[in-house]
Amino acid sequence: SKITFIEHNGTRHEVEIADGHSIMEGAVANMVPGIDADCGGACACATCHIHVDPEWLERLPAKSDMETSLLEFAPSPTEGSRLACQIKVSPCLAGMTVHLPEAQH
Ligand code: FES
Repeated sequence: SKITFIEHNGTRHEVEIADGHSIMEGAVANMVPGIDADCGGACACATCHIHVDPEWLERLPAKSDMETSLLEFAPSPTEGSRLACQIKVSPCLAGMTVHLPEAQH
């Protein structure tokens, strides 16, 4: 499914991510800047922080307690903050746009 990443400076990256892979894996494989994924997807680093628009946010599975608590440590968390490694791509997310925060550290 196609996912569009928008950097803080407005640069867009349209990336095809296989269903079943996480948004973080797709970003790393396509070298989208701003997704560092230091922990490799273990929900332990929060360097895969993304901002999701409200219309897409409601289609995502709910956050786990671990994701919620990690996001508290992410810089500039918002209502739409999610960890990209915790979101698996599926056909119902085709066309989703996510925003990258200014900095992951
Ligand atoms: Fe570390 Fe997502 S890659 S929390």
